[in-house]
Amino acid sequence: MLVSSKELLTDALKNHYAIGAFNVENMEMVIAVLNAAEETKSPVIMQTTPGTIKYAGVDFYFANIRAAAERANVPVVCHLDHGNSFETAVLAFHTGYTSIMIDGSKLPFEENISLTKSVVEVCHAGNVPVEAELGRVGGKEDDLDNTKGKNPFTDPNEAAEFIERTGCDSLAVAVGTAHGVYKGVPQINFEVLTKIHELVKIPLVLHGTSGVPDEQVTKCINLGMCKVNYATDLRIAFTHGVKEYMKGSPEGFDPKKYGAFGIEEVRKYVLQKMILLKNK
Ligand code: 13P
Repeated sequence: MLVSSKELLTDALKNHYAIGAFNVENMEMVIAVLNAAEETKSPVIMQTTPGTIKYAGVDFYFANIRAAAERANVPVVCHLDHGNSFETAVLAFHTGYTSIMIDGSKLPFEENISLTKSVVEVCHAGNVPVEAELGRVGGKEDDLDNTKGKNPFTDPNEAAEFIERTGCDSLAVAVGTAHGVYKGVPQINFEVLTKIHELVKIPLVLHGTSGVPDEQVTKCINLGMCKVNYATDLRIAFTHGVKEYMKGSPEGFDPKKYGAFGIEEVRKYVLQKMILLKNK
């Protein structure tokens, strides 16, 4: 069933676990994430960035995720990750996405508030929840790289004010993780996260989780992170599977054959993360 992220994240917050949010780039990755969710009986968020949407069109991704949701025995959310403009957010909303992120984190505080508020207004009219971002998550997701020369962490007081003034449903905060492949071990600032957790009563979102050690993810969940995003590692897993197939069958040419290897690698990865995020 295709559902909104609102109730899932509220339940996760109340019961101290997290919902996995996995970036899907093609039909094979949608199938892989669906299979892992079914196997672990986990509600799941499948998400696409504007860059992904540009590749095949928002309608194609929505159709794939909706098909997975209709087949699933677990709740499935179709989420826009890092919506980069009012127009993109509204397009995804009108297409049928059941959860929308608007990322105004590169804007000055007041402008981020007004952009987020305008998206909240549209989406809430259709009962679709909105994730916003405050602070500067490192690295580069899509074309967004907003870390240069700035204080990297979300200010806890600003976070509380931001939520109050925008009415957003969940908040992505910058606590030291980065999108993409880490060069060293990620350094999460648990002091900042603890302070945010004290002041903020809505679900928090952890971005840039590929490569973050599992124990640190668990600590983040215990400090209010209810949605945990994985993208890079899924891309790596899929490509690894395809390469493995091609290594064994260099003459291979059937996308169904190497696609199946990609699906299997992504399924195994997501399965392990889904167990972790249950936090039991
Ligand atoms: P990673 O690519 O580092 O897993 O980040 C995922 C993410 O936060 C998507 O918004």
